[in-house]
Amino acid sequence: MRRQFQGPSEAFDTLLVTEGASFVRGVEYDAFCQGASVIDFTKRYGPIWKERLGSLEIVNLAKPELVEILYRNDSKYPRRLDLKPWKVYRAYKNESLGVLTHEGEDWHRARRVVSKRVMPPKEVQAFTPAINETIADLVARLRDIRDQTGVVPQLTNEMYKWSMESIFRLLFESRIGCLQDPMPPESQGFINAVDRMFQSGQIMFLTSPEFFRKYKLKPWRDHEKAWDYIFNFARKAVDKRLAELADEEANPASNGIIEHLLASEKLSMKEIYSNACELLLAGVDTTSNSLAWALYELSRHPEAEERLFDEVDSVMKSADVSTATHKELSQMPFLKAIMKETLRLYPVVPANNRILDKDVIIGGYHIPKKTVIGSLQFVMGRDPSIFPEPNSFLPDRWLQKDEQAAAKSAAFASIPFGFGPRMCIGRRIAELELHLALVQISRNFKLQFRGKSAIKPAIRGLMVPGGLLKYLSFFC
Ligand code: HEM
Repeated sequence: MRRQFQGPSEAFDTLLVTEGASFVRGVEYDAFCQGASVIDFTKRYGPIWKERLGSLEIVNLAKPELVEILYRNDSKYPRRLDLKPWKVYRAYKNESLGVLTHEGEDWHRARRVVSKRVMPPKEVQAFTPAINETIADLVARLRDIRDQTGVVPQLTNEMYKWSMESIFRLLFESRIGCLQDPMPPESQGFINAVDRMFQSGQIMFLTSPEFFRKYKLKPWRDHEKAWDYIFNFARKAVDKRLAELADEEANPASNGIIEHLLASEKLSMKEIYSNACELLLAGVDTTSNSLAWALYELSRHPEAEERLFDEVDSVMKSADVSTATHKELSQMPFLKAIMKETLRLYPVVPANNRILDKDVIIGGYHIPKKTVIGSLQFVMGRDPSIFPEPNSFLPDRWLQKDEQAAAKSAAFASIPFGFGPRMCIGRRIAELELHLALVQISRNFKLQFRGKSAIKPAIRGLMVPGGLLKYLSFFC
């Protein structure tokens, strides 16, 4: 039942309540047809609506001007919905929280330390050679493992291994062999543990992990075992780096992220372990799926792929270099537009959220403090009133002047990395990784999509390709 309201400050209770499918249930849905999806809810109920998921109520926002109000009213120490099972594990095992999970002043302290090495453009640019090195290995591997039709079996898995290798390299300045054949068993074990951790955690995110833990139910047992592996893996890598650094002559100072955390002396060892885990986790699926989506769209749009190749080729030839740096990337506007367009269509985090520490009025509704308020990135990215032809892959929309002006006014419509002091801390690293990967892949391969139907997005924690990208061919 929909109720109509007017006036500047309507009561919270009057917002429409839905009890239906949403991102968090892990439903696979077709964004383009009339399934039960958040797009449908927004069409039915308008740009602000409330949903109930178990005991949790979320107010969802699906217009940039409403999302802007949310972020402009953000708390001094912004808060998102708790990653409950993660926190219960840490408390149970007496492990610390990290920048992703900490709250309040502890979050602020951790964020300040970590961001010093991963946010300033100069610091991030220094990662370029290391990133290019892992991408070169990815390219060589893709070439090797293609079948006769150019298809790379398990493409998303290969992207995943690459982004794991890349972030590990930036954190610890060593390699873990994810792009080797066979992969070292410990690294494979880590990948399996991450997968198990996410799978087993799903059911506990919106229920009570304490209950699962107390009665030692299977999801908790799996979750605990997976986290034990993840923590041991990260702890071992941090300790190894610490030991290497003790021998200064053999290991002169460099720009590794963990090295910086150790040198800061502002975080306890437990916090360094937990931040190592969180950066490893946050930096893998996000980047790998974004790259997979970009390659998928390029494989379906040969004219865009051709333009990308021409842009990259001409910049690299005139600079007379074989690998790109930020200098060359700064002359590749079309390449950057491709990534923006990919993240508009497939924001890996399709809905972000905030819990404010004060009441706020949004869209005429009075929303009490501590309410979970979601911003629906995916819905806005597909809204024709914000982005004309929203389901088409049109990188040029980010380059044309009038479109640029329009996009500016809808600035909050496409914020795949979030916004404000708690936005993605790895944004610059992710963009550098993705841009450099597109440079090398476009120079080495021509892509072709042979599938009969489009790959639909699916929600498995993040927005990922719903089907295997098994029809994507890589030709040299
Ligand atoms: C395409 C790639 C990526 C996307 C789309 C993405 C997106 C996001 C989003 C939407 C958030 C929440 C921001 C907010 O609440 O406003 C976030 C947080 C975060 N991201 Fe990323 N991310 C990506 C890559 C990475 C990488 C490579 C790293 C690690 C180097 C990383 C580390 C983190 C961390 C630690 C947080 C929590 C920050 C905090 O709470 O202070 N992300 N990311």
